[in-house]
This record gives sequence, structure tokens and C-alpha cells, in this order.
Amino acid sequence: KTPIAVLISGRGSNMQALIEACARPDYPACIALVLSNNPDAAGLETAHKAGLATLAIDHRLFPKDRAGHEKAIDEALVGAGVKVICLAGYMRVLTPYLVEQWKGRMLNIHPSLLPLYPGLDTHARALEAGETRHGCTVHLVTDGVDEGPILQQAEVPVLPGDTPERLAGRVLEQEHRLYPAALEAYLTP
Ligand code: GAR
Repeated sequence: KTPIAVLISGRGSNMQALIEACARPDYPACIALVLSNNPDAAGLETAHKAGLATLAIDHRLFPKDRAGHEKAIDEALVGAGVKVICLAGYMRVLTPYLVEQWKGRMLNIHPSLLPLYPGLDTHARALEAGETRHGCTVHLVTDGVDEGPILQQAEVPVLPGDTPERLAGRVLEQEHRLYPAALEAYLTP
């Protein structure tokens, strides 16, 4: 199994989906570390309860020093023997330093059908634009935010009466299926 790290900033429901996939004996990854920039991330507790190694590296301890924060993250990842990183609701934009260190070995999940709606508030923006379909994307991370090569996507319909919250829920269900599947395909030669 390939040792991966899951990087989170909050709830960690995609991390949970990856934890469940990694528990399957035939799944090609195992989680070596769950790391967060936010010591209060609910997902850290979930991961700890699942018996996983967790680490918080609070970005606020590195004021105006993104490079220092990312150097600390990189050291922790290398120290834990991580081979592939999965960003799962990691809400800080990475500098070219970390992106370059992990080029081709860092995946992200984004709640839109990229290249549509990079950035934040994707569900509200898709609704405002009158989209009839929306979804999520797993892609490799490159310097441009939400711009790297797409690995897999999943679509959902936009339904009459949708609110951003309802649409987000429909997309999130697909995220939980898509991320483990995309990681598996990425790791399987
Ligand atoms: C997910 O919807 C993920 O796609 C999104 O944050 C949510 C995290 O939820 N990620 C981004 O917006 C990245 N820019 P989770 O913590 O429950 O997995």
C-alpha cells in the first residue's frame, strides 16, 4: 500500500471517505498521517479516533512566513514516509515551494466541474449562473489554484428549488465516492 497524507482544515468528511477506502484490504493506499493547518479542525478528532497519526501545524504560528509553514509541513510529510498527498478541504493556497516538492504526487478535490468555478462559493456561483449540471473534480495540484490536470469528475443535476446547501449536499455525496475512486485509479498502474 502507498502511504498517503490527508491534509484537512475542517470537517474532514472526504478524509473519512478515504479512511473507509483505505480500510479495505485490496485498496492501494494507507493513511500515514492526517495533517491540518487548523488545530481545531473537527476532522483531526475523527482521524485520531480512527487510530491514525494526526498533526496540527498552525499557520498562525508562522505569521507572514508561508514558506516556513510549508517547510514544517514538508518535513512532517517526509518524516512520516508519505508518498502521495491528498488535499481534502485544505483551505490554504499552497506556495510554489510545496507544489514543486510534491509535483505529480499531490491530489485535490474541488467542489465544481473544473475548469468551471475555481475558488470559493462554487455552489452559489453555479446556481447564480443558471447551470443545469454541477459536480466535483479530483485533479493534480499545480501552481495555478484549482488548475492542475483533471483525474476524474462526477456530475450531479441542478434541481428546481436548489439552494447552495442542498446542491452542496448532493455534490458532497459524489465527492465521497469520487475521491477514493480517483486515488485508486491514480495509484493503479
Ligand atoms: C469539500 O466540499 C471540498 O470539495 C471542498 O471543501 C469541502 C471540505 O469538506 N474543498 C474546497 O473547496 C477546496 N478549495 P470536508 O472537510 O467535509 O471534506
